[in-house]
Amino acid sequence: MTETIILGSDHGGYNLKTEIKTYLENAGYEVCDVGCFSQESCDYPMIAKQVAEGVLRLSCRGILVCGTGIGMSIAANRFDGIRASVCSDTFTARMTRMHNNSNILCLGERVVGKGLALDIVEIWLKTDFEGGRHLKRIEMI
Ligand code: RB5
Repeated sequence: MTETIILGSDHGGYNLKTEIKTYLENAGYEVCDVGCFSQESCDYPMIAKQVAEGVLRLSCRGILVCGTGIGMSIAANRFDGIRASVCSDTFTARMTRMHNNSNILCLGERVVGKGLALDIVEIWLKTDFEGGRHLKRIEMI
């Protein structure tokens, strides 16, 4: 079955979001882009809310991009059931899927270049949750 990814950014992440959208579509994912749709300044908490609510409603995963990834992660993690992870390297991208069952990946366009960002996205998407002792821990959150 085709996996749906809900994608969003503010103006600080708009260019990287566009690159990620192309990557996801070429890789066969169903992409739901909630914006923003230009480099005009906008407020990241509103985009994080849309992606978080969509992820919870559809039981799917999402990707959020801002300047650093941090504002998006703070906002998305306010929603019960969201485990949003800021990743700037492939090791943490893999580990946050294996151990935290991360359901939203947050990236910083001003932190990582396009090549590394797409590697992080690919690894995060393809790595499965290990379950077991890690399930008990995320249930404690
Ligand atoms: C926008 O300038 C910037 O503050 C935002 O993209 C993000 O990095 C916030 O955490």
